Amino acid sequence: MYTLGINAYHGDASACIYRDGQLIAATEEERILRVKHWAGLPVEAVRFCLDEAGIGLEDVDFITVSRDPWAKFSQKMLFALRHGTSISSLRKRATHINGVRSIKEDVAHALGCNGTPIRAQVKFIEHHRCHLASAFFASPFDEAAILSVDGMGDFTSTMRGVGKGNNIKVIDSISFPHSLGFLYTLFTQFLGFPHYGDEYKVMGLSSYGKPSLVTKVWDVVKLKTAGLFELNLRYLSRVGQGDWMTLENGVPIIKPLYSEYFIEKFGPARQEDELLTDFHKDLAASVQQVTEEVIFHLAANLYKRTGMKNLCITGGVAQNSVANGKVVANTSFERLYVPPAGYDGGTSVGSALFHYHQELDNERGPFQHQAFTGIHFSNDDIGKYLAGCQLEFEVRKLPDPKLLDTVTECLINGGVAGWFQGRAEFGPRALGNRSIIVDPRRADAKELLNSKIKRRESFRPFAPSILQEFTAEYFEEADDVPYMEKVFHIRPEKRSAIPAVTHVDGTGRLQTVSKEDAPRYHALISAFYKKTGVPILLNTSFNENEPIVNTPEHALSCFLRTKMDLLVLENYVIIRNGQLH
Ligand SMILES: [Fe+2]
Repeated sequence: MYTLGINAYHGDASACIYRDGQLIAATEEERILRVKHWAGLPVEAVRFCLDEAGIGLEDVDFITVSRDPWAKFSQKMLFALRHGTSISSLRKRATHINGVRSIKEDVAHALGCNGTPIRAQVKFIEHHRCHLASAFFASPFDEAAILSVDGMGDFTSTMRGVGKGNNIKVIDSISFPHSLGFLYTLFTQFLGFPHYGDEYKVMGLSSYGKPSLVTKVWDVVKLKTAGLFELNLRYLSRVGQGDWMTLENGVPIIKPLYSEYFIEKFGPARQEDELLTDFHKDLAASVQQVTEEVIFHLAANLYKRTGMKNLCITGGVAQNSVANGKVVANTSFERLYVPPAGYDGGTSVGSALFHYHQELDNERGPFQHQAFTGIHFSNDDIGKYLAGCQLEFEVRKLPDPKLLDTVTECLINGGVAGWFQGRAEFGPRALGNRSIIVDPRRADAKELLNSKIKRRESFRPFAPSILQEFTAEYFEEADDVPYMEKVFHIRPEKRSAIPAVTHVDGTGRLQTVSKEDAPRYHALISAFYKKTGVPILLNTSFNENEPIVNTPEHALSCFLRTKMDLLVLENYVIIRNGQLH
């Protein structure tokens, strides 16, 4: 039985394919179209998934869509009436609903299946149930409390539930516009980061400030009984007008959400190119702290109601790895699982899992690593591709021991290497298959990377990939973190050894690398460890102001555009002049 999961007409459009409950492939459309956060119909992602499964659309049994246009419909209509939502906004919404409802026909048409009978049944599954399923059904837990927190999907911003075996029971939800995601977006925009998905920049900045403005931020959001919360809507504009989010060439644009009242209370908004002051840094720290406390409040009540030891957190707010790293220490939960794509990209997977387990009552299989689900290129593919490229650089094909020696030597000599191998990652993090790597011992690594490749804000940290077996030696409260989804404190005595991946507050957004899940990346870090005594590499995503590279063409183009010293494509090594002996 084939299930094609789709997240369409929503940020980070994506597709996945399952065969009898086993994940065969998943990818986000942005990786193929090369447009960040692309939010239309993910036709190319669907095409890729079907190719990976070796089937056509006519072989699919179910198409699951992570939207239910009828969810909370009467509540939506009442809200629109009460807030005087314009007729044109309602018309746009109706067109949008029709787009979601005709998804099967639209995919068939885009894939050129006109005339071929498509027997697949289409299942629309409410957005947050997809988030819940993407976390719990893919987790290692037999039972767990589940918390989904995001901006908004299907008129809901927060949902809590409990998972047991192959069943999820929803406990409660919080409706639009009361949203923790909106709270963070509100301040992200005010702090001069206007783009969809910029919230992680405020999270990085928060480590530079003091949470001296929490009292002011607590006027924007209030904790309620039963572990709930609400926003003070005086601080928000637009949400009643229904036009706060639009798409421009497939990219989601969220218009400024802060109101005149917000400006009155917090002063003028920072412009994108304006200097970051202590006020901005303190505000970022305060918003981060308040967000964490709201999450702990939601989770603590969930613990009280379920009594469970395990927690899954998902939704866009689950990308807040700083908060994730503090949840176990600040609640009674003992273990936390966050999926690799907690944000909306992961809802395609969630829709397929929800339908297969919850609606069809199929049992769950053993836990499997979820992130390496994208496209793969063999040495043959890469060799043929490079043969047609007429490069002015030296290209060598090396067996692994020699290749690992060459790469680690380059890093130790201050080089920056592109590391492309295996299947592309699903989710926002590069996890050693589409990564740029650097020696973490270099104090100047941030400058090195920014001058050679990234040109990104100086306050944003770079992350460490660590051999799993050394985690406790380097990190306090260390847990297994396979998807770079939690931030922990680096032990004080180790910080000076790895300055490139130690954030200003002594933390690191680590990825624990195991031999079982990522054997070749594990071997690379081991080779570096043997030479340096440090079982860690700096790992940043393989891109330059674009979605993470997906193919050898993207990787080579990034190498050629930047000053990267070395590029690994499976067993091929491309060397910039004079960098290696
Ligand atoms: Fe969402």
